[in-house]
Amino acid sequence: MAVVQEGGHENWSSRLGFILAAVGSAVGLGNIWKFPYEAGEGGGGAFVLVYLLFVFGIGVPVMIAEWTLGRRGHMSPPNAVRRVAEMEGRSPRWSIIGWMGTIGGFLVLSYYSVIAGMTVAYMLDSFLGQATSLTAPEASQGFFAAFVGNFWSVLGWHAVFMGLTVFVVARGITGGIEKAAKWLMPALFALLVLLVIYALSVGDAAATVAFLFKPDFSKLTLDVVLGALGQAFFSLSLALGSMMVYGAYVPREVSLPRSAMIVASADTAVALLAGLAIFPIVFAYELDPGQGMGLIFVTLPIAFSQMPGGVLVGGAFFLLLAIAALTSSISLLEPLVSWLEEHRGISRSRGALIGGGGAFLLGILSVLSFNGLSDLTMQDVDDIVAY
Ligand code: PHE
Repeated sequence: MAVVQEGGHENWSSRLGFILAAVGSAVGLGNIWKFPYEAGEGGGGAFVLVYLLFVFGIGVPVMIAEWTLGRRGHMSPPNAVRRVAEMEGRSPRWSIIGWMGTIGGFLVLSYYSVIAGMTVAYMLDSFLGQATSLTAPEASQGFFAAFVGNFWSVLGWHAVFMGLTVFVVARGITGGIEKAAKWLMPALFALLVLLVIYALSVGDAAATVAFLFKPDFSKLTLDVVLGALGQAFFSLSLALGSMMVYGAYVPREVSLPRSAMIVASADTAVALLAGLAIFPIVFAYELDPGQGMGLIFVTLPIAFSQMPGGVLVGGAFFLLLAIAALTSSISLLEPLVSWLEEHRGISRSRGALIGGGGAFLLGILSVLSFNGLSDLTMQDVDDIVAY
């Protein structure tokens, strides 16, 4: 039976359910394609050290604060912050803090789903052997260019992924989000461990350890340090409403500081393991540990195409990414849906359709940035505005 709270919301069924959902939110595309590269380029161990300091010194306290506000307010972020402010005799206008997160999460969801949709497409293409028969760098580059150049296919996969996100959120806290996390997080962890074992046994472990962990403090510029701070916030799902709304569903007896330590440790462990799954392969095939999206969608398929069993390894890798992305995207949609649900006449399913539909439409701009509008620069935008 669903436990109904003030504001009509359910609670998580257990501490474990809450923690898995929060880890699901935190572990996402950011951990798998952004962190390993940033760490490698930002001075290896030096970056990792600064990152750990930010995660545990700033991220964990902010996470506890978000959960506390959510739990005390028992509502969606805008209403939770407003209620807590009112309880303390402060202005209801503090709700703007909740709005900033809710709107920010909606904006991030609009492009997150586009990239996530691409991981689903690449998963199928890998299992079908198409994205895993690209032995030459030019072939892989060409495959990616042709894929993102096709507006309708990028749009279609964006629609599929947003549809999945809406489906899970529509089914509610325990029956949707928590259930998805309980199935998907163990699957993600198992896949990741298998990939790490495989990569370390066939790949170049020594080069990987040097790249990821050998500290080079000369690379720690101000930009790199700020990048580590941004990465810590993004990776822990902070400031976008997700953690605050997940906090709203936490039963009173659960310790928030302990849970935050667990979530932050799991998130960091996955980021480090992702590096150990990716770079041994990249270095073994003498590929460039180059930046972000290119690393995942162009570089890795070259290695998958060359290795024995690459169809399975490549397919498993993109499945891992898709799972990580889904448990994050649902947490990006939830703040808005819980707010909509607080209105008379808007059911959860309807709210999920409205929120997800809106983010889907906005995401069309991100889809276009790969094809129809790929030549558009900020200068053009300035010119149009000036005109
Ligand atoms: N933490 C997720 C990732 O690393 C992204 C995310 C940010 C999800 C903010 C929800 C809120 O990919």
